[in-house]
Amino acid sequence: MLSKSSARIFFLGGTVVTFLIFIVLSWRSISQDVPVKTHEENITAQVIAGKHLWESNNCMGCHTILGEGAYYAPELTKVYERRGEGYIKVVLTSKAPWAPRGRKMVAYGFNDQQADELIAFLKWIGETDLNGFPPKPAYKSTLNSQ
Ligand code: HEC
Repeated sequence: MLSKSSARIFFLGGTVVTFLIFIVLSWRSISQDVPVKTHEENITAQVIAGKHLWESNNCMGCHTILGEGAYYAPELTKVYERRGEGYIKVVLTSKAPWAPRGRKMVAYGFNDQQADELIAFLKWIGETDLNGFPPKPAYKSTLNSQ
């Protein structure tokens, strides 16, 4: 059984040590992991302009990116890889709401430059190292599972 004073030392010591570990790991993440994993060197003026368009047009009102946002429309973290540049450009420049699957995307009718900025942003996001997020669906073979 710990005495009251050794329990206090144990508690304070544990708190200080875990707090220091937290500080060191946070510093490591911010100064080393984030720049490497996000490929900071690829954040061009075009990517930044795309991010501004992303925010000012409330894309997250319907879409998620990095899992954040609304669930009305497709997740867009890997949309560049999934759909390719041409498809995205058609969606973003379309004068009529893009809706091959029923739900309607806003017909922003972006010009070429704006569409390219958004595409650059989506390409950059898609190439960041997210430790495997979003996971690929694990399709189970129905042929051999009887
Ligand atoms: C009102 C809701 C809404 C908003 C706001 C919205 N979208 Fe969409 N978006 C959709 C829907 C719904 C689809 C799927 C349409 C379909 O495929 O039938 C879509 C599809 C897309 C696609 C193709 C995705 C895929 O996997 O096929 C891209 C890229 C896209 N949106 C980008 C954007 C961007 C960039 C913005 C902001 C500038 C934005 N969207 C704002 C509803 C929205």
